[in-house]
Order: sequence, then C-alpha cells, then structure tokens
Amino acid sequence: MPLVTTTEMFKKAYAGKYAVGAFNVNDMEMVQAIVEAANECHSPVILQVSAGARKYANPVYLRHLVMAAVETTDIPVAMHLDHGADFEICKASIDDGFTSVMIDASSKPWEENIALTRKVVEYAHDHGVVVEAELGKLAGVEDDVKVEAHDAMFTSPDEVEEFTQRTGIDSLAIAIGTSHGAYKFKPGQDPKLRIDILEEIGRRLPGFPIVLHGASSVPQDQVAIINEFGGNMPNAIGIPESELRKAAQLAVCKINIDSDLRLAFTAAIRKHFVEHPDHFDPRQYLGDARTNMKALVKHKIINVLGSENKA
Ligand code: G3H
Ligand code: 13P
Ligand code: ZN
Repeated sequence: MPLVTTTEMFKKAYAGKYAVGAFNVNDMEMVQAIVEAANECHSPVILQVSAGARKYANPVYLRHLVMAAVETTDIPVAMHLDHGADFEICKASIDDGFTSVMIDASSKPWEENIALTRKVVEYAHDHGVVVEAELGKLAGVEDDVKVEAHDAMFTSPDEVEEFTQRTGIDSLAIAIGTSHGAYKFKPGQDPKLRIDILEEIGRRLPGFPIVLHGASSVPQDQVAIINEFGGNMPNAIGIPESELRKAAQLAVCKINIDSDLRLAFTAAIRKHFVEHPDHFDPRQYLGDARTNMKALVKHKIINVLGSENKA
C-alpha cells in the first residue's frame, strides 16, 4: 500500500475511540521495529521525522527507508514531519513526499502563529498533504530547546475554534500536561493529564482530531536495565499509560512517542555488551535493540493506543 495521509486514519480513530501511534525514526532498525510491530498488530502507524533526524540521517535516506518499509506491508503508513520550525522545512518535506507535516509556531505570538500556519496549510493542501499545528506550550526538551516547567502553558479551549477556522489545519496538538523527554516527573509524583481541558476542546471542536506530544511513559523496567548494565539515568517517571489510554478514548487521535523508543533501544544495547563483551558485529547488538523496540511498540499499540486490528 502506498503512503497515506492521516485523514482516514483519524476519522476511524475518532469514531473508534482509539489513537494512532506516531513514532520517531532515525535509522533503519527503528523503521523496521515500528513497522514490523504495527504490521503484526494489524495497526495503522505514523512514522515521524524530526529536524534532528534529518540532520543525523539525511532526509533522502529516511525517505527511502520509509518507502522500503511501506513496500513490505499492507497496513496504512503515514510519513510525518515532526515539529517543523518554519515554512521552508515544511515545504521541503512536502516536496520530498511526506504525507503530513507539523508546523510548530506555538511559541510565536497569536497572529504570527496563525499567519505561518495558514501559509503552510495552503501549500500543503495544494499538494494533497495534511497539516498539524500546536496551541499551548509543552515543558521539556525538543531539538535542544528546553522549556522549563514554569514556562509551559496549557491550551486554552477559548482559542481553539478561531485557530482551527482561520488556519484550516487538519489536526491540533494541545498541551494538557504531557512534556517532552525522558525526565518528566520525579518518582512519587502522581502526574495526571488535564482531561477536563481535553473534554472541553472536544466539545468546541466536535469530530476534530487532537494530538498529544510528549507522551512517553518512561517504562521503569527499561530504565532499570539501563542502570543495571552500566548506565546512570536519574530517577524519573513519565505520563502514566492509564492517562494516555483515557485521552485516546476521547478526541486524541495521534500520540507521539520518541523517548520510550530510545530507552528500549539503549537498554538492549547496554545489556548486550555486558552479556557479550566479546561481540563487535553491529548486527548482533542492533538486532537486540530492534527486537526490544519492536516489543515496546507492540505494547503501546495494544495497551495504550488501542489501535490493534484497526488497519
Ligand atoms: O519532540 C521531539 C522529538 O522527541 C524529536 O527529538 O529533535 O532529538 O530528534 P529530536
Ligand atoms: P516524548 O519525548 O515524550 O517521547 O515525546 C515525543 C514527541 O512529542 C515527538 O514529537
Ligand atoms: Zn513533540
């Protein structure tokens, strides 16, 4: 099946009360892990590429890796630009064959966010590509930019109707308590999402797909493996999976996961080297990393997103 946009995926996800996973990809093993997991779960999936991934792997390699993955499966796969910072990167991705882009102008003043988002929407829609934009500000680290918790801002439901109407976007990322990175909350804290804000936004925008960034749960078993096998990660917890499950049953149709993938990949490699100090063939340790990441993606599809058998 060729790459698809997220339009049909989100329509079905909204009606079916589940969400589609948007997983960040940076190399071949990650693309394979995610698509194999989605394929075995018969789930739709979104592969997303950040500016950092473009810099690391070269966009041409990433596009061909995604296209190779699509050739191996019949499940719906969308290729999405994560956190597009300006018009140029969105345009380049659209010209490159991405089926979905995010323009992230959420840190800009209101009118600037609207004008830039509108410009991206016009170009994208002319090329059959869909657009995600953001209102509100998440805490955490993304592309080397750190937003302190006190600078984070929940999305105001009063703004969402005007924003979506004036920009013409296809989905809206909101801030309701998630944050980027692996260090979201301290152990002992009880992180909760502002489900009340999500419900209010759902009332203001009936049927409109909502996106959650910063939705890694920081699985403690993976952190424990990293630390047992020579790592030194500070204690931290993420968004409880039960909270994400609630959001997926409401208006949230896309859930972004990156940090948890990194933890699973790293845990497997650290364990591999301690157990096999004589190994030097990358296929041995990258193979373990891929297997562990695939298991994590399957777990998310089945237990968090609810998208199993929805392809
Ligand atoms: O939200 C940001 C994603 O986790 C991408 O991270 O910019 O380090 O690739 P990155
Ligand atoms: P995490 O850091 O919580 O995985 O968030 C990823 C993300 O939002 C990518 O856009
Ligand atoms: Zn994000």
